[in-house]
Amino acid sequence: MISQQTKIWNVDSVVGNSQDYPQLTEAAEFLRKGEVVAFPTETVYGLGANALSSEAVQKIFAAKGRPSDNPLIVHIADIAQLEALVAEIPEIAKKLMDAFWPGPLTMIFPKKEGIAPEVTAGLDSVGIRMPSHPVALSLIRQAGLPIAAPSANRSGRPSPTTAAHVEEDLLGKIAGIVDGGPTGVGVESTVLDVTVNPPMILRPGGLTKEQLESVIGQVAVDPGLLEEKERPKAPGMKYQHYAPKGEMWMVVAPTVDKQVEAIGSLLAEAKSAGKKVGILATEESSTKYPQADLVVPCGSRADLPSVAHHLYDALRTFDQERMDYILSESFPSDGVGMAIMNRLMKACGHRIVGSDPSRNLSN
Ligand code: TXA
Ligand code: MG
Repeated sequence: MISQQTKIWNVDSVVGNSQDYPQLTEAAEFLRKGEVVAFPTETVYGLGANALSSEAVQKIFAAKGRPSDNPLIVHIADIAQLEALVAEIPEIAKKLMDAFWPGPLTMIFPKKEGIAPEVTAGLDSVGIRMPSHPVALSLIRQAGLPIAAPSANRSGRPSPTTAAHVEEDLLGKIAGIVDGGPTGVGVESTVLDVTVNPPMILRPGGLTKEQLESVIGQVAVDPGLLEEKERPKAPGMKYQHYAPKGEMWMVVAPTVDKQVEAIGSLLAEAKSAGKKVGILATEESSTKYPQADLVVPCGSRADLPSVAHHLYDALRTFDQERMDYILSESFPSDGVGMAIMNRLMKACGHRIVGSDPSRNLSN
């Protein structure tokens, strides 16, 4: 792939000062010309291109090294854009849009003609969301286009939660990066199929099952997410993702104390085998592994959204510090814990020590 100059627009210092971010005019112009531009959303950074142009969308797949059978999410700034893209808006989707858009919820709709076929990877459905980050909304509005955008990482790497993460993966491979500071939620949007009854979570994310159920009642979870032998319904969920280069294990135990104890003995074993060991811990337990080469405190166990917020940066740190063995604490899988555990499970390639994760920490 030919290397190119990546232009950086810094809007970090002005976030919240303006509705329209005039400094994004050039970034929007790049999008209209068919270039790809990374931008912040409230979940993770996205890598955007005109969703109506095959040529533009192909550049996303090339820059990320993304398999072409993995469809992209289309980002919109208003409901008129949704109506132009989908064949039907189910009643249940209207309720969810009222409650949660703009926000970290992607819904799968039957698609209309006009979307570049690469976006949907040949499926007859399309995933759409309206992000709540003011910079993302302003950029989409100024471009005047629906913007296809996967997370702005190289395929297989953790999603980027800062512009520096995007630079690490894509500098020289894309036309530009809008730096709007660190993202908030830290894990991607929840992907919900609203074409089935009851609606089904295809990817757990920033919006919880409990939040969805408070508005529409029962919500199903794709069995392919929970059982290794079933194939997930969202094409992207079958890939191993987020994995650090070192061998990572997640430690599961019925209580937090037992978890710390189990990690302690695995750590001692790995150290005596001469390994460079990193631990993904929480603020509460980060002082309990003195033998480790690196302990990354990843938020507070008492505040799972703070764990989600720090998760991908923590996973990247193990690579930067060249850890060859990583042990991770585990979390209850209710609330945003469902997304955290899903991403950790993928990061460790399902290498789990201890009991059945569904019985982890008495959830
Ligand atoms: O928070 C997010 O959703 C971020 C930001 C940038 O908006 N985007 C993101 O996109 O995570 P990406 O491409 O990394 O993940 C999209 C996921 C993949 O697992 C993909 O397979 C699934 O959504 N998906 C997209 N369209 C789909 C469809 N029509 N049917 C089923 N799954 C779909
Ligand atoms: Mg992604």
